[in-house]
Amino acid sequence: MSDAAAPTGTTGDDPKSATATAGSAPPMISMRAVDKHFGKLHVLRDIDLEVPRGQVVIVLGPSGSGKSTLCRTINRLEPIDSGAIAVDGVPLPSEGKALAALRADVGMVFQSFNLFAHKTILDNVMLAPMKVRRVRKEQARSRAMELLERVGIADQADKYPAQLSGGQQQRVAIARALAMNPKVMLFDEPTSALDPEMVNEVLDVMVSLAKEGMTMLVVTHEMGFARRAGDRVLFMADGSIVEDTDPETFFTTPKSERAKDFLGKILSH
Ligand SMILES: Nc1ncnc2c1ncn2[C@@H]1O[C@H](COP(=O)(O)OP(=O)(O)OP(=O)(O)O)[C@@H](O)[C@H]1O
Ligand SMILES: [Mg+2]
Repeated sequence: MSDAAAPTGTTGDDPKSATATAGSAPPMISMRAVDKHFGKLHVLRDIDLEVPRGQVVIVLGPSGSGKSTLCRTINRLEPIDSGAIAVDGVPLPSEGKALAALRADVGMVFQSFNLFAHKTILDNVMLAPMKVRRVRKEQARSRAMELLERVGIADQADKYPAQLSGGQQQRVAIARALAMNPKVMLFDEPTSALDPEMVNEVLDVMVSLAKEGMTMLVVTHEMGFARRAGDRVLFMADGSIVEDTDPETFFTTPKSERAKDFLGKILSH
């Protein structure tokens, strides 16, 4: 349904998005006229979004504005009512093996770490590549160790999740998502359940991922991170993308009353 649609303008006036998609590569994430309801609640309203390869998009907005739902539709944890979503040019499959493959391409890290409590850290990271990608055990193990090294917790590999701090567990969750070699990483408030002293160790991993060119969509209230690592800010309210601009512009000169109000609240504490 979406594959014949020519890329039209993006929401807002993001120059980077326009140039990055001008070549032959499809946008990494493309959403066209996406609508979704939960019963009578119109939770996503006519969402148009193109995220070029390598872009880091920060999603902001008040509670209930649809940020998590937006993320969840991109790997089809939530189905949509109408519109079209494609990842790297491939329309989202509705079910079966194709959907499993798509989910593997889109890594997701949530506020709650969702690790398997009865499996070691190493097993948590090895499991999906072996099951979904059919990677052999030895190969899965060495890749998992490499990733644990990279997020700074290789020395915890044989422990169980409950033996790790929140920040360490969230870094395992990131390593686990990366183990599938995803094309896109979605983060939904990855640091909001963490004690303050653990926030930076997780954000540092995310900053390094961003620097390496990972395409990322990040729902976060960490404004320092948004300014430092974000290429673009989407501000959502009532299921719509109300502002779509670069972080500096958003934080210094928000246009809408909703955004001004939101920034006033979060920057004042
Ligand atoms: N499974 C569901 N069934 C019914 N309503 C839902 C469901 N999931 C979310 N909602 C509602 O949809 C709206 C958008 O929710 P969503 O979780 O996307 O918001 P959010 O912007 O992520 O909010 P928060 O900042 O609190 O995480 C809210 O009003 C929420 O109550
Ligand atoms: Mg949410």
